[in-house]
Amino acid sequence: MEIVETGIEGLDKLIGGGIIKGRTYLVAGETGTGKTIFALNYLLHGASKGEGGVYLLVDEEYESFIEGAQAFGWDLQPLIEQGLLSIVTLLPDFVEKVRNKPVETIVDSIVDNLREEVYRINASRLVIDPIAPLVVGEESIVKMREYVRSLLVNIERKIRTTTLVTSEVPTGTVQLSRFGVEEFLATGVLVLSLRNIGGRYSRTIWIRKMRWRPADPSVYEFDIVPGKGIVVKSDKRLA
Ligand SMILES: Nc1ncnc2c1ncn2[C@@H]1O[C@H](COP(=O)(O)OP(=O)(O)O)[C@@H](O)[C@H]1O
Ligand SMILES: [Mg+2]
Repeated sequence: MEIVETGIEGLDKLIGGGIIKGRTYLVAGETGTGKTIFALNYLLHGASKGEGGVYLLVDEEYESFIEGAQAFGWDLQPLIEQGLLSIVTLLPDFVEKVRNKPVETIVDSIVDNLREEVYRINASRLVIDPIAPLVVGEESIVKMREYVRSLLVNIERKIRTTTLVTSEVPTGTVQLSRFGVEEFLATGVLVLSLRNIGGRYSRTIWIRKMRWRPADPSVYEFDIVPGKGIVVKSDKRLA
């Protein structure tokens, strides 16, 4: 089993050095909990070691994403130019085009496009952030689950990157994922939250599931540090 460092400060040592190569991991949490920064941090660590990364940007415009990262202290442009990072956006008419198409057709189209980009820059890391709005429309929850399942299975089969998928959990719920299937399909699940501890809000990361890794389910505090990313306080185990 080959292990891939996430590069998230403080995290790898809590999960036996990293995550399993070629598998898919879920980063879940309410809005504003740090999922996007986590996912980008993962790709930037890869890039710093010469491993290419592809980021499927789903719910933001390309320019605003690049500007936001810049404001955070991350200059993505040089990495993009060096072919170490690729930010992929869905074409504006994608959702319209795939509406009412069978799930397999939608998934094939996404997977083919991602695979092409992964091959182009020889990427070994992939992020889909978030998985949910790829399937807006009036589809039933059954169809959405089928879609999520098929997408995750086909990424592992056909693209073979080590992949992080984020899932936005509705605020105020205790769900682990948006559609209730991601957590079963993923090899590992990390849940990011904001918790009120003694009257002040702290960011926490819950190592909820890490299949085949020496990691206990536990909760730690973390910080979001501009220019650096996620810093897990591995000495601050809360539960
Ligand atoms: N430039 C910045 N400086 C400091 N903190 C920032 C900066 N940009 C974002 N953050 C923090 O990161 C949070 C958003 O993280 P993000 O990864 O976008 O969350 P999510 O993807 O879960 O919605 C913000 O609410 C803010 O607290
Ligand atoms: Mg986000």
